[in-house]
Amino acid sequence: SEAGVLTGKHILVTAGPTHEPIDPVRYIANRSSGKQGYAIAEALAKLGARVTLVSGPTGLPAPAGVNRVDVETARQMAAAVDAALPADVAVMVAAVADWRVDTNADQKIKKDGAGAPPALSLVENPDILAGLGASDQRPRLLIGFAAETEKVVDHAVAKRERKGADWIVANDVSGDVMGGDANTIHIVTRDGVESWERLPKADVARRLAARIADELV
Ligand code: C5P
Repeated sequence: SEAGVLTGKHILVTAGPTHEPIDPVRYIANRSSGKQGYAIAEALAKLGARVTLVSGPTGLPAPAGVNRVDVETARQMAAAVDAALPADVAVMVAAVADWRVDTNADQKIKKDGAGAPPALSLVENPDILAGLGASDQRPRLLIGFAAETEKVVDHAVAKRERKGADWIVANDVSGDVMGGDANTIHIVTRDGVESWERLPKADVARRLAARIADELV
């Protein structure tokens, strides 16, 4: 695709993990590096889109030309996504924590001396992608990601339906994908499955950005 094909489009990208606090010094997280989402945000901006990147904690620099909004928790990410609407396209790459701790202690939890560990009770986080899928501000093209370790395409087909997404980009994270520099993806659409060869994450991003631009014409 040529530069400028996405000029005038607002594209929302979520990336990175979320951190769910247990107390002021501890949190629950996951192994997402943010690399794939950041690369997608950068590739979309290079094609001329106005990109809002809602990012969990990653330590990565903001890609050039991208408006980054930093968040920590799933609930903050949901609020930032909401605040960024409307968008023509949303690409939800973040590995949002499914659960948060229902009581976030004000003070550091101390060992009680008797050897009894604290019980953490978890509650489900809002599903940001599913929320957008059902929203009256649903982007025209809504893309979710699916990190799976087995039955990758089957799970993605079900996820596309369940979350009201147009595409699910499925990746097998049983190997070295999380934190690594390459990715093997399958794009599940209404019409079927497109499987791409293993590629550097930057190439996955460029091809996906071009595929998005094609879809919008
Ligand atoms: O159900 P699962 O977590 O595998 O779905 C992954 C997709 O849903 C990703 O696009 C992810 O960004 C999105 N998601 C979300 N909010 C959640 C959980 C997942 O937006 N709470």
